[in-house]
Amino acid sequence: MAGEIGVIVLFSCCLAIAICNVQQQYREKGRSVAVTQTSGMPWPMPKQMTVTTIQRILDVGSFQFLVSSSTQRCDIIDEAFVRYRKYIFGNDDRTLKFKTNRKPRHGSIDQEAYLDTLQINIASGCDGYPSEESNEAYTLMISQDASTATINANEVWGALRGLETFSQLVYQNDMGLAVINATIINDAPRFQHRGLLLDTSRHFLSLDILKENLELMAQNKFNVFHWHIVDDQSFPYESYYFPDMSRKGAYSVRHVYTHSDVKEIIEFARVRGIRVIPEYDSPGHSQSWGLAITNLLTKCYKDGQLSGDFGPIDPSVNSTFQFLQNFFLEISQVFPDKFIHLGGDEVPFDCWESNPDITSFMTMMGYGKNYALLEEYYMQRLIDIVQGLNKGYMIWQEVIDNGAKVAPDTIVHIWKGGYQDELTKVTKLGYNAVLSAPWYLNYISYGSDWRNYYQVEPLNFNGTDAQKALVIGGETCMWGEYVDNTNLIPRMWPRAASVGERLWSPMEVNSADAATSRLEEHRCRLLKRGFPVQPVNGPGFCSVEL
Ligand SMILES: *[C@@H]1O[C@H](CO)[C@@H](O)[C@H](O)[C@H]1NC(C)=O
Ligand SMILES: *[C@@H]1O[C@H](CO)[C@@H](O)[C@H](O)[C@H]1NC(C)=O
Ligand SMILES: *[C@@H]1O[C@H](CO)[C@@H](O)[C@H](O)[C@H]1NC(C)=O
Repeated sequence: MAGEIGVIVLFSCCLAIAICNVQQQYREKGRSVAVTQTSGMPWPMPKQMTVTTIQRILDVGSFQFLVSSSTQRCDIIDEAFVRYRKYIFGNDDRTLKFKTNRKPRHGSIDQEAYLDTLQINIASGCDGYPSEESNEAYTLMISQDASTATINANEVWGALRGLETFSQLVYQNDMGLAVINATIINDAPRFQHRGLLLDTSRHFLSLDILKENLELMAQNKFNVFHWHIVDDQSFPYESYYFPDMSRKGAYSVRHVYTHSDVKEIIEFARVRGIRVIPEYDSPGHSQSWGLAITNLLTKCYKDGQLSGDFGPIDPSVNSTFQFLQNFFLEISQVFPDKFIHLGGDEVPFDCWESNPDITSFMTMMGYGKNYALLEEYYMQRLIDIVQGLNKGYMIWQEVIDNGAKVAPDTIVHIWKGGYQDELTKVTKLGYNAVLSAPWYLNYISYGSDWRNYYQVEPLNFNGTDAQKALVIGGETCMWGEYVDNTNLIPRMWPRAASVGERLWSPMEVNSADAATSRLEEHRCRLLKRGFPVQPVNGPGFCSVEL
C-alpha cells in the first residue's frame, strides 16, 4: 500500500513538473522576439561619426585599395588590403554573395552612385613595432559623390583601425548590392592599453587558434595580446638558453612553442597593430620551471623532513638570481615589446615557512615572520634585473598590496574583487593601472552576460583627475583550465567585444540596450567572415550561418 501511494505521488509530481516545463517553454516562446540587427554600423563605436542615408555602391569586381605614406612601401597595409578585400566582398561559398554590380559607363545617370576606390594616406612611415605610444587615430571620409573614399592617419596603426571600420560600414542592401552610406568619422581610442589575456599553460593552444584570436582582436580594435605563456601546469615556451625547460616542463613535445612559432605569433600580431606582452609569472605559479632548473624552487618540509614537494621560487640563494638574469635577458631579446609581465600573484607562504634555510635567511635579513617582506625582496631583485635590461614591466596587484616599492612607471594589473578601492589605492601611489577584475570571461553563465562586462566603467572609482589619468586601460582574461582549441574562439567571442568597445569608445557609449542591435550585427559579421562566434542575445539568426 505504502509503495503504491509512493508511486502515485511520484507520478503526479512528475506530471506536474512536466506540464509546468511545457507551459514554461510556451511562455518563453511567446515572449521571445528575435533581436534586430543594424546595417553597416561599426563595432566598437567611433569617437565621432556622422552617417547620412545616401548609399554609395561598391563595384565588387574593380574596387581598388590604394595607400600612400612617407616611406615607399607599406607592406603592413598591402597585406591588410588582401585580408579586407576578402572580409568585405567574401571569397568562398559560405560567405554572402553580392550581386555583381559593374559600374555603368561614364556619363550614365547612376555613375555617381558608385564608390570605386579607398585611398589611405599615412603621414609617417610604415614599419616598426606597435608600442604603448602608438597613435591609432584616423579620419574616414565617404562623401556623397566623390568616387574615392579616404582614410587619413598619422601612423600605420591608425590606418589599420580605419580600414577595419571601413570594412564594417559595408553592408548588403535590399537589392543585394554591396553598399556603404556616405559617412564622416573622426576616431581615436579612449584607452591606450586594450588587452586580452590567453593562458597557454593550463591547456595548450595551437598556433592556428592563437592567430584566429589575434585576427578577431584586430577586428575588435584590441591592441595588446597578454600571453600568459607558462604556469605551474606546463612550460610550453622553448627557451634558447634553457631548452630543458620545455623538454621537461611542457605537456609533451607536441605542446611546445618553438623559437619560430613565437616569432610567427609576434609578427602576425605586429602587422595587425597588436603588441605581444609575455608573462613569466613568479615566484608562485612556477612549478613547471623547477622540472629543469634544479634548486630553483623552495623545497618544502613536513615534520622536520623534506616532503618531496616544492613551493615558490627560492629567494634565499644567489643561484636563483643568476638564473633569472640569464632567463630574462633571453626574454627581453625574444619579445620586442617594451613591457614584460612579471606576475607576482598568489604566492603561498606555507612552504617558505616550513624550510629551515629560508627561516635562517629571514632572520639574517631581519624579516622575522613577515613572508610578504621575502616576497618583496624577491620581486625587487627581479625588477632590478628587468630594469637593467631596459624593459618596463607589469605586475599583478599583490606585489603592491604586500607593500613592495616599485619603479614609478610600473603598471599594476588589478584582478581581485573590490577593484574600485584598489584602483583608488594604486593610483594614489602614483602607479599606472590596468583593470581586469570585472572582465574574466572564463566565468560563464546562462544568458547575455556581455551586458555585465559592458556596464563596467573603468574610471568609476574615487580619485582625482590625475589619478584617473593613470588608468591606461584594461584587459579581458580567458584562463585556460576549461578552455582549449575546441572552445576558445566561441567562448571568447563576441563576449570580449563588449570589453573592446568600453576600452575604445567614448565614456558616454555605455548603454547595453543601445548596443544590442549593433552587437548582433557585429556577431553576424564575424560569423560571415568565417569565425565560430557564439550567439549572445538570445533567439535570432544571421543571413550567413556557419
Ligand atoms: C543608410 O542609408 C539607408 C537608406 O539609404 C538607411 O535606411 C540607413 O538607416 C542608413 N544607415 C545608417 C547607419 O544610418
Ligand atoms: C650572494 O650575493 C650577495 C650579493 O651579490 C653576496 O653579498 C653574497 O656573498 C652572495 N652569497 C653567496 C653564498 O655567494
Ligand atoms: C566613493 O566614496 C564615497 C564616500 O566614502 C562612497 O560612498 C562611495 O561608495 C565611493 N565610490 C566608489 C565608486 O567607491
